[in-house]
Amino acid sequence: MTVRLYLPRDAAALAVGADAVGRAVEAEAQARSQPVVVTRTGSRGLFWLEPMLEVETPAGRIAYGPVRASDVPSLFEAGLLGGMPHPLCLGRPEEIPFLKRQTRLTFARCGVIDPFSLEDYRAHGGWRGLERALSLGPAGTVEEVRRSGLRGRGGAGFPTGIKWKTVADTAADRKYIVCNADEGDSGTFADRMILEGDPFALIEGMLIAGLAVGAAKGFVYVRSEYPDAIAAFGRALRIAYDGGFLGPRAPSYHHPFDIELRIGAGAYVCGEETALLESLEGRRGQVRAKPPLPAHRGLFGRPTVVNNLLTLATVPAILAEGAETYAGLGWGRSRGTMPIQIAGNVRRGGLFEAAFGLTLGEIVEQIGGGTATGRPVRAVQAGGPLGAYFPHALFDTPYDYEAFAARNGLIGHGGLVVFDDSVDMARQARFAMEFCAVESCGKCTPCRLGSIRGVEVIDRIIAGRDVERNLALVEDLCETMKYGSLCALGGFTPYPVMSAITHFPEDFGRHAAAVA
Ligand SMILES: Cc1cc2nc3c(=O)[nH]c(=O)nc-3n(C[C@H](O)[C@H](O)[C@H](O)COP(=O)(O)O)c2cc1C
Ligand code: SF4
Repeated sequence: MTVRLYLPRDAAALAVGADAVGRAVEAEAQARSQPVVVTRTGSRGLFWLEPMLEVETPAGRIAYGPVRASDVPSLFEAGLLGGMPHPLCLGRPEEIPFLKRQTRLTFARCGVIDPFSLEDYRAHGGWRGLERALSLGPAGTVEEVRRSGLRGRGGAGFPTGIKWKTVADTAADRKYIVCNADEGDSGTFADRMILEGDPFALIEGMLIAGLAVGAAKGFVYVRSEYPDAIAAFGRALRIAYDGGFLGPRAPSYHHPFDIELRIGAGAYVCGEETALLESLEGRRGQVRAKPPLPAHRGLFGRPTVVNNLLTLATVPAILAEGAETYAGLGWGRSRGTMPIQIAGNVRRGGLFEAAFGLTLGEIVEQIGGGTATGRPVRAVQAGGPLGAYFPHALFDTPYDYEAFAARNGLIGHGGLVVFDDSVDMARQARFAMEFCAVESCGKCTPCRLGSIRGVEVIDRIIAGRDVERNLALVEDLCETMKYGSLCALGGFTPYPVMSAITHFPEDFGRHAAAVA
């Protein structure tokens, strides 16, 4: 009897030898004359256990990991194909505590299904959201998304339903849906995982968005540093066209909708929505002044929904399960679930989707298991390179947009980068300014020049020169950048810089102060 195995083809699994494991499994099975089928999946997001190999048994799937190619003979010897015990056996994947504690909506299928099988997608709840949107009609769909409380997962947390309603209500001959998959934030990888592990979820989300606002064309803008994701999504697009879900008169859908995949050249600022639109129009990625908002005048001057990939890929689940179900999760104004990405110096790094409300400490220390080096956690940068550094004393902060904002932080795209006690926070502050200087689009002075001056002043502090006067200068500069920059690249760089100075004064030659 043919035995089915599952092995991720996600870039994180490939980086640690998943292809070699696949080849070893097939060779060993052939040598033993045992027919097997290895289905390549996305990742379940337990990166410290990759490559994670799963076998289908009458009792469900049984997982093994992390598997090296050299482990494969002993796995077969122990009875891998029957899900038998082995030192690498993890049991049923759903029972692994890291997965068991999650509420998976956006990532429900990722790591489970064959990402290129329309049948598998449908069998695991795919297209139910689209069918519901077709029955609700455009206005009903917009209202459903609004009632769900979904906020943009790209960084700003803007209510998605309101953005869609603005585009729906703006009259124009053409409208566009733009998926922002530039994913430039440090420690983030959730967009990539969906592109590789559940690409039809994004296609379905874009179809629903198009139906809701009256757009017939969508663009997916992916960073060039994601070659596996680009290949995977390109393949999924062709399958969706062949399967009748896309095209001028998509037979499965009865509405015209086209999606084009565009590859960015690799600038952080091209994740900013207006710079992204410039780039899509073939120009240098430079930020546009707002207004007009892209929802009024976006791509090629037409009303445009620009949404992060996670926002769009969550919409099918919201439509399928109903707005109340989604809104019933989370707390305050942060509704639903967030795919949190735990990275940096951490024992259990990966994708953890949970309802808003866990504390930062629970996520980093209980779920992430503390640092990979085993040293104490000293700081966590939340929300990418423009996010604040949180010290241990603020680990009681609940993971929600407002609670983070109240502590001068941001959730951003859901990235958390963990540092142990060997980190030098003055160097991290310098890095924030340097990052801004390198990535600045150059349009406004506080960012373009302020960041360069910021590096110079922090260098003087690190050298111990006139420390108090130079710290006062950095604080003054940060105020100017915060209030005088055109976009959040210059405007938010002060958050990592000032949080480092405020919470870790000893690294800047100041005495430790109580944390507010
Ligand atoms: C410098 C900068 C970089 C950004 N990078 C990204 C990015 O990589 N991905 C993203 O979705 N949003 C990014 N954003 C936020 C976008 O401008 C925009 O708010 C978002 O795409 C809107 O989608 P949402 O409402 O679904 O979050 C960035 C913003 C700034 C200022
Ligand atoms: S803040 Fe920086 S990135 Fe943003 S518009 Fe100004 S120069 Fe460009």
